[in-house]
Amino acid sequence: MYRDPVQSLEPLPSRSAAPRALRVGMIGIGTVGAGTFRVLARNQADIAGRAGRPIELVMVAARNLERAARIVGGTVPVTDDPLRVATHPDVDVVVEVAGGTGPARDWVLAAIAHGKHVVTANKALLAVHGAEIFAAARQHGVAVAYEGAVAVSIPIVKALREGLTANRIEWVAGIINGTTNFILSKMEDEGLDFAAALAEAQALGYAEADPAFDIEGIDAAHKLTLLAANAFGTSVRLADVQVEGITSLQRTDVACAAQLGFRIKLLGVARRREEGVELRVQPALVPVSHLMAHVNGSMNGIMVKGDAAGVTMYYGAGAGSEQTASAVIADLVDVARLDGTHAAQRVPHLGFHAHAMSALPVLPRAATCSSHYLRVPVHAAGDVEAISAWLVRQQVPVRHVTLAAAAQPGSGPQVLVLTQPVQQGTMDLALHALQAHPSVAGKVTALRVEELA
Ligand SMILES: NC(=O)c1ccc[n+]([C@@H]2O[C@H](COP(=O)([O-])OP(=O)(O)OC[C@H]3O[C@@H](n4cnc5c(N)ncnc54)[C@H](OP(=O)(O)O)[C@@H]3O)[C@@H](O)[C@H]2O)c1
Repeated sequence: MYRDPVQSLEPLPSRSAAPRALRVGMIGIGTVGAGTFRVLARNQADIAGRAGRPIELVMVAARNLERAARIVGGTVPVTDDPLRVATHPDVDVVVEVAGGTGPARDWVLAAIAHGKHVVTANKALLAVHGAEIFAAARQHGVAVAYEGAVAVSIPIVKALREGLTANRIEWVAGIINGTTNFILSKMEDEGLDFAAALAEAQALGYAEADPAFDIEGIDAAHKLTLLAANAFGTSVRLADVQVEGITSLQRTDVACAAQLGFRIKLLGVARRREEGVELRVQPALVPVSHLMAHVNGSMNGIMVKGDAAGVTMYYGAGAGSEQTASAVIADLVDVARLDGTHAAQRVPHLGFHAHAMSALPVLPRAATCSSHYLRVPVHAAGDVEAISAWLVRQQVPVRHVTLAAAAQPGSGPQVLVLTQPVQQGTMDLALHALQAHPSVAGKVTALRVEELA
């Protein structure tokens, strides 16, 4: 195996010398790690050509050594000690694809402290410990690259940092969790309720046995923190995101939204306002005529609005072995190209923003603003006007009001309302009071409406 005495992080050799390999230590060789191994091996020559030097896997850590050895076929030494990989002098860059937020934090911080760049696909790790990790990377002058942690096959971090770099970003919005999009598509296309759609997603392997992370919106929130950090320089803090999953979404709301010309999608939205940035993950109504409404099944779609470029859209698989490997290796190629240059020129590591952008604060829920859809069960069809007039008196401007088509024979009347944009604080007060209105016969449902224009 190729071994070079040159220590990590020394500047690249002069043009006349053969470029030395970038030596990669990988922690974890499960779905993503095995994909990374396969793609690196399969496309070795092309990848080396694009990176300007070979990218060589020199060490792998896993718990099950036999399984790991089978995957690498004896080409790479395997160890059950991730810290050994993180700190080994023969390793220039550590790929962390093990997952979790406990030990993974220690491995990544150890790698950084030893002057190694880090590539990770672990969104949970960055959403929880990102501030600490990026601060350490800044201090040690290394890069932490994480394209695989956001939208996998969609190079959205690169798009934000490079392709759209001239822009003042107005908003980023996306369907960034394939499991929930699969479930919502089933509810829409086949009229299933949430539980039946989830069971089908589990049977087909789109949802984990414990799907909480996905269906409660946490996975999408992890990714949104990274998108917002890139777009707006906000802190990478999960606690800043308003998170609402799809567990309480009713089939009848999917049908009522369709009656009004909308589809319901679990959207992650980061939107610039004058006073700060809205960060929220919520099931939201999207006009059926909008491209985002047609991102279906397990696919992901992200839109970005920049002041110069306008709206651009990115579409692709949001999970998968080689799909994630594609992003991990792209980050490795960036590290290979830019290792030895000034830290600010390197692949995205969020420390960069501390110098380049003034970070915007994240707005509290009450200060966020959007249009809403309301479904209001009422005693009589004649209550439509009363509800509409009452909302206007509560400072909730009404754009459209109608009666829902009966969900099933014998079900009571329901008023459907689309509001104009209204601050969430005003909306929350109105919703609380509306629930006690004498015309209201059951639980009021409220969802956001996203125009994405
Ligand atoms: N799967 C995807 O489509 C996808 C997409 C984007 C991002 N990601 C992220 O990528 C990361 C990896 O996901 P994955 O699906 O590849 O997970 P996985 O299939 O469960 O693989 C995890 C790997 O890490 C190893 N590992 C875990 N804990 C370890 C420890 N304490 N010591 C040594 N090795 C350890 C496991 O070893 P053993 O097998 O020997 O136990 C296994 O090789 C996660 O952060 C995930 O969120 C995954």
